[in-house]
Amino acid sequence: MEIREISTNKEKYMDLLLLGDEQENMVYKYLFKGNLFALFDSDLKTVCIVTKEDKTIYEIKNIATYERYQGKGYGYYMINYIIENYKNKCKTLLVGTGENEKIINFYKKCGFKYSHVLKDFFIKNYDHKIFEDGKQLKDMVYLKMEFE
Ligand SMILES: CC(C)(COP(=O)(O)OP(=O)(O)OC[C@H]1O[C@@H](n2cnc3c(N)ncnc32)[C@H](O)[C@@H]1OP(=O)(O)O)[C@@H](O)C(=O)NCCC(=O)NCCS
Repeated sequence: MEIREISTNKEKYMDLLLLGDEQENMVYKYLFKGNLFALFDSDLKTVCIVTKEDKTIYEIKNIATYERYQGKGYGYYMINYIIENYKNKCKTLLVGTGENEKIINFYKKCGFKYSHVLKDFFIKNYDHKIFEDGKQLKDMVYLKMEFE
């Protein structure tokens, strides 16, 4: 298993990035300014994008594992790699997600703690309603990890 940083032809990973963020123009907002990481285990399994938001703050903008490979530990492996890579580069690592309990629990298990909520983020920033597990996403829930 290896994780590589991808700096060219980033659009090639769009199908997987759309699993983590289903509107392409939203992905383009951070695709080129962010650092894209891809996890390969024989072939591509998981991607993740991290952006610099401020001198001391980085943010995980997208993480996704192909559906058929979910639940096999690739997500945890990727997040731990990101934490190891960024803990000396910043004070705070943020991640935002819809109000999806499973995903929020996934980040909590990785060590993130509740930070704040952006009210109606998905309603204001997406051109269509987004549903996950039958529930419409409205607010963006932010979790954070602090490093010293
Ligand atoms: C969230 C995600 C990246 C996790 O990746 P993964 O490779 O499945 O992660 P792991 O195998 O390491 O599993 C991590 C946890 O997620 C849970 N999980 C796995 N597949 C899942 C799924 N389809 N939906 C919700 N949770 C899932 C696992 O049960 C595990 O929790 P556990 O330790 O309590 O069992 C993956 O489910 C995914 O790509 N989801 C769709 C895209 C998405 O919503 N991204 C997050 C945007 S904020």
